[in-house]
Amino acid sequence: MKVLITGAGGQVGLELITHLLARGDTVCATDLKERPAAAPADVPWRHLDVTDPAAVHALVQQEQPDSIFHLAAILSATGEQMPNVAYRVNQTGTYNVLEACRQVGVRQLIFTSTIAAFGPGLPDLVPNDVPMRPSTMYGVTKVAGELLGEYYHQKWDLDFRCVRYPGLISAGVPGGGTSDYALHMYTDGIKRGHYESFCHADTRIPLMYMPDAIRALVDLAAAPRERLKRCVYNIAAMSPTAAEIAESVRSAVPDVDLTFCSDPHRQAILDSWPRALDDGVARDEWGWHHEYDLDAMTAHLVPEVRKMIEHGLL
Ligand code: SER
Repeated sequence: MKVLITGAGGQVGLELITHLLARGDTVCATDLKERPAAAPADVPWRHLDVTDPAAVHALVQQEQPDSIFHLAAILSATGEQMPNVAYRVNQTGTYNVLEACRQVGVRQLIFTSTIAAFGPGLPDLVPNDVPMRPSTMYGVTKVAGELLGEYYHQKWDLDFRCVRYPGLISAGVPGGGTSDYALHMYTDGIKRGHYESFCHADTRIPLMYMPDAIRALVDLAAAPRERLKRCVYNIAAMSPTAAEIAESVRSAVPDVDLTFCSDPHRQAILDSWPRALDDGVARDEWGWHHEYDLDAMTAHLVPEVRKMIEHGLL
């Protein structure tokens, strides 16, 4: 299968490339930035600005992918600093990719939405289908992406499929998200011996380890369409408090110094997000299940972070 990835140089993209190449797909990686050092050397790397409709159309036309994984996005923290850029990349960029799929006849589009697409005032365990009232530009544009994708599915028969990702944790370099405190407890905690989280110790949001996040994308992409009753799915793995994450890191890195000093802006964003997602619909319709809970993630991630630091990649 031929797969085109937008935002391939991001935290998800780099891991997705490795996974798709390993299973034998032909991958075309695209990003605004140059090929990062961590990208596999054998993947073709094409420059693509998703805000440029002609460039998106030309590249999709030239590559003729069976499937596009559209990952290019500005995350929540950066998006609040540059809402205009977040709008263009997330909103216009997604529209451009959808239009290219329609015009060129791409069969399938996989899209990544987020816990930030929800808003405040929802139950502690948030069901799949609820009113979406996000309070960040990132969240607003992701809801719009979900709805546009559903529209293209109904109107143009595009096989649009989407997961709502929790905050993602991996040994990669994070990219301007508000959930990044969780990842920094591992990366900075191990590299520098200390990290001060920008949230309260009792902050609780849904989180997921990257191998589960990658498997969710490829499993959803491969699920038989007739089993899917919708286009957009909550997926979940764990919802520890920041203090519980710190405790888990300390169990593997005993001398690490992890403290908390809440930043009001980022705390307000975190407080507007769900505390946990109900992923029952994804489990029923395409067999989604997570493999990593907090301590399993810590046991796997700590040696990975140490390896990345040794290789100068963190
Ligand atoms: N990780 C994202 C962020 O923090 C949430 O989807 O913006």
